Amino acid sequence: MCCSVRSSPLQGRMALTRPFVLVLSTALPLLFFSPADAGEVGVSYGRLGNNLPSTASVVKLLKQSGITTVRLYDANSTVLKALANTGITVMVMLPNDHLAAAAADPSSARRWVRQNVAAHYPATRIHGVAVGNEVFEEASNLTRQLVPAMANVHAALVRLGLDEAVKVSTPIAFTALQESWPPSAGRFRDDIAKPVMKPMLDFLERTRSYLTINAYPFFAYVEQPDKISLDYALGNSKAGVRDPVTGLVYHSLLDAQLDATYFAMEKLGSSASARQGNSLGGPDASAYISESGWSSGGRRRPGRRLEKAGYGAGAPAATIANAKAYNNYLINRVLSGDTGTPYRPDADMDVYIFALFNENEKGCGADDIEQHFGLFYPNQTKVYEFDFRGGALPSWCVANASAGQARLQAALDYACGHGADCSDIQPRAPCFEPNTVVAHASHAFNSYYQRSGRDKAACDFAGAAYVVHHAPKIGKCVLPWQVLD
Ligand SMILES: *[C@@H]1O[C@H](CO)[C@@H](O)[C@H](O)[C@H]1NC(C)=O
Ligand SMILES: *[C@@H]1O[C@H](CO)[C@@H](O)[C@H](O)[C@H]1NC(C)=O
Ligand SMILES: *[C@@H]1O[C@H](CO)[C@@H](O)[C@H](O)[C@H]1NC(C)=O
Ligand SMILES: *[C@@H]1O[C@H](CO)[C@@H](O)[C@H](O)[C@H]1NC(C)=O
Repeated sequence: MCCSVRSSPLQGRMALTRPFVLVLSTALPLLFFSPADAGEVGVSYGRLGNNLPSTASVVKLLKQSGITTVRLYDANSTVLKALANTGITVMVMLPNDHLAAAAADPSSARRWVRQNVAAHYPATRIHGVAVGNEVFEEASNLTRQLVPAMANVHAALVRLGLDEAVKVSTPIAFTALQESWPPSAGRFRDDIAKPVMKPMLDFLERTRSYLTINAYPFFAYVEQPDKISLDYALGNSKAGVRDPVTGLVYHSLLDAQLDATYFAMEKLGSSASARQGNSLGGPDASAYISESGWSSGGRRRPGRRLEKAGYGAGAPAATIANAKAYNNYLINRVLSGDTGTPYRPDADMDVYIFALFNENEKGCGADDIEQHFGLFYPNQTKVYEFDFRGGALPSWCVANASAGQARLQAALDYACGHGADCSDIQPRAPCFEPNTVVAHASHAFNSYYQRSGRDKAACDFAGAAYVVHHAPKIGKCVLPWQVLD
C-alpha cells in the first residue's frame, strides 16, 4: 500500500510521480518597491519519524538555520504553539480525511478554521492553508470535493477577516499534468482539466491565491536517467534543452516543469486573468514550490520499472553530493531573486524544500529512498552544508518602509554622516528620483553596508533596514554591489 501512491504510470515524457509543491501565484501587484516579494525559500516539516527532535528543539533549529517559513502536513497545535512569536511563517494543512466534511458542510470548514488557524493567528504567522495534499493521487475519490472544500475554507477565513493574510491552495502532484514536455505542450489531465482545474484556477484568481504543485526533478531523473541528464535535473545544464515550439532553452528541469504548468494553466484560460491587476508592473505570475528536494541515499524501491531505470547501483541518483547540489541550487535561486523561468521571466518562486529531517517512517520499509530527503538527520546534524542566509551570495542593504518616516530620516542622516556615499541622492543627481525618504535611505544604507564590508551588523539601523540577495532597483538606479578587497 505504501508504495502504490508513488507508482502510478509515468504520464507525459517528463511527468513526475513525486510530490513537490510549486505555487503559481496569479497576480501580486507591486504597489511600491518591496524586495521581500521576490520569493521565499523554506522547508517542509514532515514528521513521519519516530526519532525526531521535540518541537521546541525544532523551532530552535529553524531559527539557528535562518529558516523563516515552513510547511506542515497538519495543523498540530503543539507545533503551532511552538512556532508562535518566532516570526516564522507557516502553511498549515487540512488533511485529506477532513476534506469530504469541509466540502459538504460550511460549518465543518468554519470549525476547522477556528480551531486550527484563528486560534493561533497572529501569534503564529499562518499565511496559507493547504486544503488536502495530492488529492488526485492520494484520495482520488475526493477529487470532486476538492474545490468546494477550498471555497468553504476560504469563506470561513472571510468571515473571520483572515482571507487577506491567509491564502487557500492545494498542493497537487506533478502527475496532474498529462503532458509536460516540451513545456509548451503542458496541459492538465483530461479527467481533471475542465471539471476541477478550471474552477480551481478561477477560485485562486478570485481569491488572489496561487496554484501549488509538488515538482520533483529527482523522480523524473530516476525514472528516465537515459533520457535526462543529471546536470539538467540538478538545475545546471550548460547546453540546455530546447522547446522546439517556443525555441526557449531550458537549463533546469525544474524550470521546464514550472513552464509546463504555466502553459497548462494558460490552456484553461488562466493567463488573461493572471495578467489582470498587474498593470502596475508586477510579474505575470509567481511560482511557489511547496515541495521540492532530492534524496541523499537509501535503497531503491522494489518494482521492475524502477529497477530497470537504475535506482541505486547503476546510476545512483540519490547521493549526498546530488542532494547538496540540488537543494543549494534551489536555496540560492530564490535568495538571489533569480526566480523567473524562460517562459515567465518575471515570475516569483516560493519554495518549500522537502524536507527538514530524514523521516524513518516514510516509504516502504527500512532505508527506503524516501527516508533520505532531509536536510538534517534526526539528531539535528546537517546531512550536508547549506545556507538559508545566503552567506556566499551577493547582498544589498535596503530600507524597511514599515519603520516609518521619522526613523528612516534619522537613520539616513546617520548613514550619510558616517561614511555612506550620499552624492547620488542629492537634487539633480542621477538617483534623486524618486525623492522619498525610503528610496534615499536605501541608497544610503546600501552604501554604508557595502563600505563596511557587508557586515550584517552594518545593515540594521535600529531595525530600519534589512539585507536582500538580489539587486534592488529604485527608480532608474540599481543599487551597487561593491567587491571589496
Ligand atoms: C501533535 O504533536 C505532538 C508533538 O509531536 C504530539 O505529541 C501530539 O500527539 C500531536 N497531536 C495530534 C493531535 O496529532
Ligand atoms: C474515499 O476512499 C477512502 C478509502 O480509499 C475511504 O476511506 C473514504 O471513505 C472515501 N471517501 C468518500 C467520500 O467516498
Ligand atoms: C547524527 O547522525 C548521523 C547519521 O546517523 C551520524 O552520521 C552523525 O555522526 C550524527 N551526529 C552526531 C553529532 O551524533
Ligand atoms: C520592517 O519593520 C517592521 C516594523 O518595525 C517589522 O515588523 C518587519 O519585520 C521589518 N521587516 C523586515 C524585513 O525586517
